[in-house]
Amino acid sequence: MKALVLAGGSGSRLRPITHTGAKQLVPVANVPILFYGLAHFAEAGIKEVGMVVGDTEAEIRAAVGDGSRWGLEVTYLRQDAPRGLAHAVLIAREFLGDDDFLMYLGDNLLQSGVAGFVEGFERHRAAMREAGEADRAPAAQVLLARVPDPQRFGVAELAADGSVVRLVEKPEVPPSDLALVGVYLFDPSIHDAVASIEPSARGELEITDAIQWLLDHDHRVHHEIIEGWWIDTGKLTPLLEANRLLLEVAEPRIDGTVDEASTIEGRVVIEEGAVVIDSIIRGPAAIGANARIERSYIGPFSSVDHDCTVVGSELDHSIVLARSTIADVPRIVDSLIGRDAVVTRSAQRPRATRLMIGDHSQVDLDV
Ligand code: DAU
Repeated sequence: MKALVLAGGSGSRLRPITHTGAKQLVPVANVPILFYGLAHFAEAGIKEVGMVVGDTEAEIRAAVGDGSRWGLEVTYLRQDAPRGLAHAVLIAREFLGDDDFLMYLGDNLLQSGVAGFVEGFERHRAAMREAGEADRAPAAQVLLARVPDPQRFGVAELAADGSVVRLVEKPEVPPSDLALVGVYLFDPSIHDAVASIEPSARGELEITDAIQWLLDHDHRVHHEIIEGWWIDTGKLTPLLEANRLLLEVAEPRIDGTVDEASTIEGRVVIEEGAVVIDSIIRGPAAIGANARIERSYIGPFSSVDHDCTVVGSELDHSIVLARSTIADVPRIVDSLIGRDAVVTRSAQRPRATRLMIGDHSQVDLDV
């Protein structure tokens, strides 16, 4: 079993953060989203990983390297443009050979990991082979989740006997509330499917259409309904939610320095080299390596990444990316602050809000 990870694409819904970086590397609880997936592959016994990359290839390569940190062997597969999830399978043909594979969207996060899902598929196929019914073994397995807004996803329609009969990508009128999670298992018949379909109305080769092609050509598609939470992190609100869920289960530890005037409450991770002075940190929260927190309050569900400085400020339910500075700001909530950003409150007259914000930014002021 190999894994094919999709880490290309454009990340338009997380701009401006993704103007300068890959959306799959935005940190959640101070760990890049993609790293959770890689750890889950290792847990599932997968070794060979094909990483589909686009314009952000250099950044992904620098972060993931050869994968040996997770005991994986990563091969990079360059996609010239985000032409769709099924297009990524097309360009990975040689890497995948005739193996079964797990396809994983690099911006998805699953609480349960993928080991149970992979094991179920392999067990099922082996049992069918042993029973002399290899041709009736599922060619694909999809993972489904009930969602309140199915029109944002690929959606599955099940028959009365529970089998998958139809899959549609982002339908205006969804046939059910069962969304396709970005984790799929395929046998080599998917290669005929991706070579046979046409681009969709949005101009992409859709994996949803390729799976529908399998159904239309008498292949069986097995499904599982997900247990535990699943998040497609491509937008701000789900990203903050993922941050909250992962901070809630992070193992608390204090490897940095906390002075006597400071209070640390609840589940808090403070990485090596971080310094906390005269501050309150109320968990769940994570403070990255070499960060400096001074005369500040860091409230629940906040992640402050490495080399940040927070002075004389209050922060709640927010993510601050690497090397940013927040100084003398009374209260920041529900926010995502990019890398190397500076947010300050100065005594300069006239009193005013002075901004230099990137394209596609969102600012919600309290005055
Ligand atoms: O998250 C689950 C959903 O993911 C499914 O319900 C949908 O059926 C599926 O089409 C997909 O929808 P999205 O619109 O969320 O896909 P997105 O364009 O965000 O791409 C998912 C990941 O794949 C992301 O990490 C970028 C990467 N990607 C995307 C495209 C289109 C590539 O590497 N290459 C591509 O060509």
